[in-house]
Amino acid sequence: MVIKMEKMFTPQQIAYFKTQPTPFYYYDMDLLERTLIALKAATPNDFHIHYALKANANSELLKRIHAYGWGADCVSGNEIKRALEIGFNAKNIVFAGVGKTDEEILLGLEQNIFCFNAESGHELIVINQLAGQHNKIAPIALRINPNVDAYTHKYITTGLEENKFGINPYELEDILSLLKTLKHVKLIGLHFHIGSQITSLTPYKNLCLRANEINHFFIQKGFFPEHINLGGGLGINYAEPNTHSIVDFASYFAVFKKFLEPKPSQSIHFELGRSIVAPCGSLISKVLYIKNGINTNFAILDAGMTELIRPALYQAFHLIESLETPSDDSRTRKYDVVGPICESSDCFGKSIVLPELKRGHLLAIRSAGAYGEVMSSQYNLRNPVKSIYSTEIK
Ligand code: LLP
Repeated sequence: MVIKMEKMFTPQQIAYFKTQPTPFYYYDMDLLERTLIALKAATPNDFHIHYALKANANSELLKRIHAYGWGADCVSGNEIKRALEIGFNAKNIVFAGVGKTDEEILLGLEQNIFCFNAESGHELIVINQLAGQHNKIAPIALRINPNVDAYTHKYITTGLEENKFGINPYELEDILSLLKTLKHVKLIGLHFHIGSQITSLTPYKNLCLRANEINHFFIQKGFFPEHINLGGGLGINYAEPNTHSIVDFASYFAVFKKFLEPKPSQSIHFELGRSIVAPCGSLISKVLYIKNGINTNFAILDAGMTELIRPALYQAFHLIESLETPSDDSRTRKYDVVGPICESSDCFGKSIVLPELKRGHLLAIRSAGAYGEVMSSQYNLRNPVKSIYSTEIK
């Protein structure tokens, strides 16, 4: 069988890849730009985006994202520092995370960030103490666990009672009593995030319905949240990156327009990560060895779970594409595409049909722009992974 696949890469790009040491991340800056334009066009005027740096904190990408005027969602002091370096306005930075250290809280206070998304009563007490020591009032959004199922992988579900994230609704009365005693924190918002790689809009509808109830509860109790932050989580189509390279942002926002019932003066915020950056990144790797087994052929690559851990950690699917031009008589074979790391989980895909591979062939592992480079590690003392950008290819 002759394979004819629609390819994302031009012959010039592939020729350039062949001059570069592998493995590396390749970022299609044109696709990123088109995604940002689509997001801007789809975002209702009264909705505010904070890009989730955890998905990809590469400065080249951040500069492009920042140019659209959005804010940043940070989960560490270093992410706050990176966002500020790029030029994100502190007034648009939200700081989330279940385990903020004292140093990180102090950094947020010193920089006068927009909001701390607080995850527990204990954290509120600590933020209050630190803010008091510096004569400040910390702006707080309470992260509430809405107990809404995101129907995604269990490792990236965050909005269920069993998850470590957020304050459970049954704790809210106590939290409100606590808040009345804390003089150095000010409740300014409600925060929710139910999970990541959410591919149906139904969980978002359910989130809106829960958020309406919780918003109503706060207002009845005499607390007026100035903003509601619905988190991120919008999923992408990993199976068909060529035909679905830009997420349908308009349908996503339409759900919130339809089902969320904010009060007129409440602002609405989102923390999108993956849907913005995943499609534009590919991990490019070279075949080192072919091992033909009785039942399985292994294609052993020079990239592994150290460069892209998602398949090993979440059994995530990433489309794997050969960048070689198959000759008319070239055959296909089934491969287990694996990395060089000393772990059996170091596998990018099993029984993947590809044109016959040879040592030195290049493969692209697609849709790796989110939670790829940022989650890379030096396990086995591997070199830090490099990045190249479409803009450097003439
Ligand atoms: N807001 C909060 C509070 C979050 O925890 C996250 C992601 C986001 C926003 C952004 O979500 P996104 O729009 O990117 O789905 N490493 C995993 C994903 C972990 C997501 C963590 N939180 C993966 O590779 O699938």
